[in-house]
Amino acid sequence: MLSKEIEDALNSQMNFEMYSANIYMSMASWFDSQNLVGFANWMKIQYAEEMFHFTKFYNFINERGGRVLLSGMDAPETEWASPLAAFENALAHEQIVTGRINNMVAQSTEAKDYATVNFLQWFVGEQVEEEASADGVIQQLKLVDGASGGVFMLDREMGQRVFTPPAEE
Ligand code: FEO
Repeated sequence: MLSKEIEDALNSQMNFEMYSANIYMSMASWFDSQNLVGFANWMKIQYAEEMFHFTKFYNFINERGGRVLLSGMDAPETEWASPLAAFENALAHEQIVTGRINNMVAQSTEAKDYATVNFLQWFVGEQVEEEASADGVIQQLKLVDGASGGVFMLDREMGQRVFTPPAEE
């Protein structure tokens, strides 16, 4: 059984995952408006990843006898100065998520809720990938330095990304 404190923390992060999904779909929409459909695809896949994260929290709260509670959220930004600015925003957001997950691990450890600590380990590993993934695109965008030919080539590469549900372990 979940304590109220841990149930609230899990619900908060579950809602934050949906907020993350909204941010990435907003970025997809901006890339589509710039006719960069490959980058838009990358962001739509990221949206799917976030909804996968959302569902993991949803299922875990239920399994532990808690009550899933959806809440309102801030509207995402809608405009970015460049593809690089969007991905720098994505990386900064992922760093916030990592901080939130780490705080929850500390909170669950303090509360001796080891089932939640164990559940969160998956997210600890996933956040390493999430940050590396955004940073990888940032490095590529810096290499092409805004040159239209380079951005076009990268856009084609981003269009190859597909959603594969992340491994459970
Ligand atoms: Fe759900 Fe991108 O972390």
